Amino acid sequence: MTTPLLEIKGLKKHFVKKKSILKPSIYIKAVDGINLTVAEGETLGIVGESGCGKSTVGRTILRLLEPTEGKIIFQGKNISELNKKEMRDMRRHLQMVFQDPTATLNPKSTIREILTEPLIAHRINPKERKALIEEMIQIVGLTVGHLNRYPHEFSGGQRQRIGIARALMLKPQLIIADEPVSALDVSIQSQILNLLSDLQKQFKLTYIFISHDLGVVEHISDRVAVMYLGRIVELSDKEQLFHNPLHPYTKTLLSAIPKLDPDDERETIILTGDLPSPSNPPSGCAFHTRCPSCMEVCKTVSPEEKMVEGSLVACHLY
Ligand SMILES: Nc1ncnc2c1ncn2[C@@H]1O[C@H](COP(=O)(O)OP(=O)(O)OP(=O)(O)O)[C@@H](O)[C@H]1O
Ligand SMILES: [Mg+2]
Repeated sequence: MTTPLLEIKGLKKHFVKKKSILKPSIYIKAVDGINLTVAEGETLGIVGESGCGKSTVGRTILRLLEPTEGKIIFQGKNISELNKKEMRDMRRHLQMVFQDPTATLNPKSTIREILTEPLIAHRINPKERKALIEEMIQIVGLTVGHLNRYPHEFSGGQRQRIGIARALMLKPQLIIADEPVSALDVSIQSQILNLLSDLQKQFKLTYIFISHDLGVVEHISDRVAVMYLGRIVELSDKEQLFHNPLHPYTKTLLSAIPKLDPDDERETIILTGDLPSPSNPPSGCAFHTRCPSCMEVCKTVSPEEKMVEGSLVACHLY
């Protein structure tokens, strides 16, 4: 097997909240021991309910958040050990696309200035910068004329195109897209997804695609990881995950997708209760408090990841 582009081993991100000097600190286990490999050129989808830790995984991989524990190995190099300057240089290879580009595009800057910023930071000379910017704005489906405008002059879909252009300016290998189409109308969503697919082919990009929307993840991913309360409960090829889900949580998530086909025989499983707090996760299997197949062992013993029918699954049923 060739070396994966990215390998994550035992990644944890615990946030510490100190309410007062007298009270003990509260640890929010947003990411609590994740293992992943991402092959060059593939799209790995990450799904799960709001608050399960998807964005924290993405941000920790890029070290926008410092990991509490674990290794992030990119092209064979452990980037969790790089110092600030080394990480800044490394960042040209790993970029992020966010849900709401409005929040990340400076309203006082023109699009040209916004796209120039990463090039200046990585010391690209002015002549080359101009050519790169004018090429990239057209690659994402806008025009050179748009470069002198300000972010508020664009629609949501166009702003996301600008966000994507900015992420691609330094020709990265890995893009982490965190809910990149969730704020957009459905018709615009498919345009942006198609753009991401085209760019992937053109630039041989690798994607980690984070979304709570299973339909979107099914459309774009090669493999899918399902997260629950800071952990991956199931990881497999897209076809396998959507047609033969194994973990009771995956089954529940899939059963919530509206059935458009009358022959669709999926039963609807209603998930009761809210996602427990990551500051006080349930003992044993974190899903046991909501699991329709809960057994005694699930309440006390945390399940290990196993390969079952080609899927990686963490559940005592297997
Ligand atoms: N900076 C922070 N400080 C403290 N807690 C945080 C911080 N960022 C996230 N959390 C907590 O960590 C947990 C995971 O949050 P995260 O944003 O990663 O979830 P998510 O799966 O991306 O959710 P969503 O689908 O709503 O975007 C949540 O309980 C959240 O409240
Ligand atoms: Mg999020």
